[in-house]
Amino acid sequence: MNRTLPEPIERASRDEIAALQTTRLKKTLAHAYANVPAYRAKFDAAGAHPDDLRTLADLARFPFTAKQDLRDHYPYGLFAVPMRDVVRIHASSGTTGKQTVVGYTKNDLDMWATVMARSLRAAGAGPDDIVQVSHAYGLFTGGFGVHYGAERLGCAVIPMGGGQTAKQVQLIRDFRPTMIVATPSYALNIADEFVRQGVDPAASSLRIGCFGAEPWGEGMRAEIQRRLGIDAMDLYGLSEIVGPGVACECIESRDGPTVWEDHFYPEIIDPETGAVLPDGEAGELVFTSLTKEALPMIRYRTRDLARLLPPTARSFRRMSKVAGRSDDMLIIRGVNLFPGHIEELILKQAHLSGHYLLEVYREGPLDQMEVLVEVKPEFANASAEMKEAAGRDLQHGIKGWLGVTTRVSVLDPGHLPRPEGKARRVIDKRTA
Ligand code: DLL
Repeated sequence: MNRTLPEPIERASRDEIAALQTTRLKKTLAHAYANVPAYRAKFDAAGAHPDDLRTLADLARFPFTAKQDLRDHYPYGLFAVPMRDVVRIHASSGTTGKQTVVGYTKNDLDMWATVMARSLRAAGAGPDDIVQVSHAYGLFTGGFGVHYGAERLGCAVIPMGGGQTAKQVQLIRDFRPTMIVATPSYALNIADEFVRQGVDPAASSLRIGCFGAEPWGEGMRAEIQRRLGIDAMDLYGLSEIVGPGVACECIESRDGPTVWEDHFYPEIIDPETGAVLPDGEAGELVFTSLTKEALPMIRYRTRDLARLLPPTARSFRRMSKVAGRSDDMLIIRGVNLFPGHIEELILKQAHLSGHYLLEVYREGPLDQMEVLVEVKPEFANASAEMKEAAGRDLQHGIKGWLGVTTRVSVLDPGHLPRPEGKARRVIDKRTA
């Protein structure tokens, strides 16, 4: 049988999970306090001592950690073990400021492979699968993280890496992988390349894809599934917490990523006040690592906006798909919106593709936004009238749903840049 069974903890009772989390949390807080001067100083300043934690709710007494803390202690200042115990370094570039550097011990890498294997298994993969890893290998956590998880699960791994789209497609045709792991925007690039090579992407050997590293909505999922003829599952993670494999969607329920709560304790907070919100409410995701040695993370503010949802296919809670990052929120003439909102409206239009870019600029005192979007490849030869009509429909949709008037330019396929990793959706010329 291809599928292997979930680990026992994935089926444990909520009481068992809470007991394990409490034990691990105590250990993590003590480890951070004893070995990282910056944590000790922050805990002391907040009047919180690791011994104060009796129940999981007591975690709220501890201070948050933010990306700035990693920058302030660049590169290794938050590491809790000597460098001789560190066996891997990754870094995330970010768009501004210094890189964020993360480190792993042997045990950390083992844990990462475990949660990543668990993620791929949840997404429907097993030892019979051949997995093409189309995330970059390097300082980015995507390539190596997925790679070792897939090997751990017993899959045959094709370490293709990011980019070289023509070769990606050639390898899919020749090596016949059954699963692909990439960013959702890159999945569409791969589908386009199939068409360019005169081959139907939906007829390939691929049956499942795991996509993440950038926000994507249900419209994008439907589009990827339709074009590639696969099940498209959501894989979530961030370097500071481990990399890919913090949470992944289960094929049985397809209802948002299940958080591997035995290793990563999730909270949702009000981004303004920092107050912990009840499950089900929308806010900023915060994670505390429960088993990490090299870089314990206490209440790390992800800036990802999501909700925590009750367990379904596993005993662990789920997160909703990420609605957007607080950094990516656009304020256009006083209206707050995320690129994902526009993406969903684009993909409701039958003729428009998931290749889009938002340009924001100022015209006199007013903010303006232009949506640049390509038609689907199958409408490449459509008339100018059809494109204009699709653009007008989108403009009405955006005005109706979001209340902002935008310009829309409908372009022929291939006119927008093709990112090989995380897509850049916004060019904000107001800040230039
Ligand atoms: O993107 C890790 C990763 C690699 C996840 C491959 C999934 C697949 P970072 O470069 O540190 O790590 O970026 C983390 O990417 O805080 C989110 O804003 C975003 N992100 C990651 N996964 C998802 C997802 C990797 N499934 C940041 N949905 C996170 C939405 C995601 N956003």
